[in-house]
Amino acid sequence: MQNKMNVFDGPDAIRDFLNPDKHPNLPLVELPAKLNPFAADNVRIFAKLMSMLPLGNVKSVPAFNMIREKYRQGNLEGVERIVENSSGNTVSSMALVGRQFGIDQTQSYVPAEISWNKLLMLLFYGIEPIVNVEPTDPDETDPQSGVYKAKKDGEEKEAINPGQYHNEDNPKSHEKWTAQQIWQQTDGKIDIFCTGLGTTGTVIGNSSFLKSKNKSLQVVGAMRAPDQYVPGVRTEKLLKLVGFDWQKYVDSIERVETTVSYQLSMELSRQGIVVGPSSGLALAGLFQYLTGLKQSNEIEKLRDNQSDDLVCVFLCPDGPLPYLDEYFKYLDSSHFPAIQNEESMLNKP
Ligand SMILES: Cc1ncc(COP(=O)(O)O)c(C=O)c1O
Repeated sequence: MQNKMNVFDGPDAIRDFLNPDKHPNLPLVELPAKLNPFAADNVRIFAKLMSMLPLGNVKSVPAFNMIREKYRQGNLEGVERIVENSSGNTVSSMALVGRQFGIDQTQSYVPAEISWNKLLMLLFYGIEPIVNVEPTDPDETDPQSGVYKAKKDGEEKEAINPGQYHNEDNPKSHEKWTAQQIWQQTDGKIDIFCTGLGTTGTVIGNSSFLKSKNKSLQVVGAMRAPDQYVPGVRTEKLLKLVGFDWQKYVDSIERVETTVSYQLSMELSRQGIVVGPSSGLALAGLFQYLTGLKQSNEIEKLRDNQSDDLVCVFLCPDGPLPYLDEYFKYLDSSHFPAIQNEESMLNKP
């Protein structure tokens, strides 16, 4: 049921507010030619703004679905504690959704290199962090890994581990909500879908649904290049922690670097599409893919009809504000305006 007036009331108001079914479609916004280097090739690029969800990031969609399915199956009876391996968005969403289903306590295994800001965010939401030194070669079956420890803890009677890395209700949530919206919003004209790879729930869910509608649709998965950092997205090595068989849902993999991800997301933000580093990574991955197509004269072949535009959608998982300090770490001062009269400032960093 869509709620046109966007009012949530009654005893279940907050639970409804967190339920993607009760919202209109999230915005799909086309990039203007100044942000689209392929505009002259009749390529149209749209940003799907998961950052506009009530909790400000993509993870409330799978978190809501995972917790509600456990509730529907009667698996939350007697449960007092959620345990998850996550350093930010997922566990925050789970904690907030969990409270609406009667579970007040949430614990999270976080890697030793977690940033102080992220840790503060967990404490702000009342989540108990458990710092874990991860094995150097990640593997979900390694008893030292946070994924394994959270799974073990979740076997205790009063605890539950939703398990974002292997719970099918994670990708299913995107099949049910994100992909259906994109299909309707593009009037079935989408040719290319691109997203970052974290748990891979987003790519699997969207790929399953969109390819069931159009077999020739291309799915691009953007990952971090080796030793590069973009929060929420993994390198090929770190993707080994994921239990899903994601490769078969992806037609092309693009490896993206830190700087370009931060820079592109700042450019989008400055034009009014206010999104975070992993949105920049997805757009950079799409640009790389389109560059390859253009070099091999393949752009034409992907169109349904020669006179049509090539319609691309990239997913924007969240906004820039949780990572604001990182923009100043990864981008040099030439990217920012100078501060006039700086010497008069009373509170310098
Ligand atoms: C902040 C954030 N969370 C999550 C993801 C990835 O989603 P998933 O875990 O579904 O692969 C991304 C991917 O770009 C992200 O940037």
